[in-house]
Amino acid sequence: MTVSTVLVVGATGSIGREAMAAATEAGLAPRALVRDLGRAKRVLPADTDFAVGDITRADTLADAVREVDAIIFTHGSNAGDHQRVDYGAVANTFRALGRRRPRIALMSSIYVTRQGQGYGPVIDWKRRAEWLVRASGAPYTIVRPGWFDRVGSGDGRLVLEQGDTGDGGIGRDQLATVLVRSLLTDAAVGKTCELFARSGTASSDWAALFTPLDPDTGLDGAHDSARVPLDAEPAGVQRDMAAVRAVTE
Ligand SMILES: NC(=O)c1ccc[n+]([C@@H]2O[C@H](COP(=O)([O-])OP(=O)(O)OC[C@H]3O[C@@H](n4cnc5c(N)ncnc54)[C@H](OP(=O)(O)O)[C@@H]3O)[C@@H](O)[C@H]2O)c1
Repeated sequence: MTVSTVLVVGATGSIGREAMAAATEAGLAPRALVRDLGRAKRVLPADTDFAVGDITRADTLADAVREVDAIIFTHGSNAGDHQRVDYGAVANTFRALGRRRPRIALMSSIYVTRQGQGYGPVIDWKRRAEWLVRASGAPYTIVRPGWFDRVGSGDGRLVLEQGDTGDGGIGRDQLATVLVRSLLTDAAVGKTCELFARSGTASSDWAALFTPLDPDTGLDGAHDSARVPLDAEPAGVQRDMAAVRAVTE
């Protein structure tokens, strides 16, 4: 699939703005999903392709997903509204897509499988959003970034890990670039990874970065050790999972 038009969900956010710029830099045509056009115009360039919609309501997303080749999810709730925002944006986007399955890059988070370490419900809703993406049949890459901005000036080397056991920082621009480049790299399809920046120089060999990763084989990321059974999940999550799966059956 050739990727050209890319919808950025969370385009007004700190990572979304970087993803819009990185997509343009990569020669793609990014479209910004925004809920408040006036506010969005103050943080994004005037010539941005805006689509107005509310990620918590699938019925407002038809224009946003029209003829997209790819979607980058960079949204996130800072107000504790994780079910409606962190998870809901992904569930609602699939509802709006119907049977279409564009290329997807999902920004998740490290610690998403590490229950009981004080992070509360946010990690469960992000894990469930990951599940939807894996179950959807879409060609996807899930990136679990380390802590934003906890990088030094010499930390140019990108490190991808699996199993959600690592820790470290990542630059917001580095994260956005990886999300965009994952859409353009065949070796990134069907894979989940944590992302850190370590001491060293940057490389632009994206295939070399993604190729060593193992592909996911089920609902969880490759090498994830914490497994939650689907039938222990809320009924609404089970319904959403059945709905995204029905498209490929
Ligand atoms: N901080 C870290 O070190 C770290 C590490 C790993 C992962 N993360 C994850 O990164 C995410 C935060 O990313 P960020 O710093 O880029 O956040 P941000 O700057 O606050 O951006 C959040 C985006 O989500 C949108 N959004 C939030 N609530 C919404 C709602 N109710 N309806 C519609 N849109 C909504 C915002 O739209 P508006 O502009 O319209 O509000 C904005 O575009 C969080 O989910 C966090 O878990 C953070």
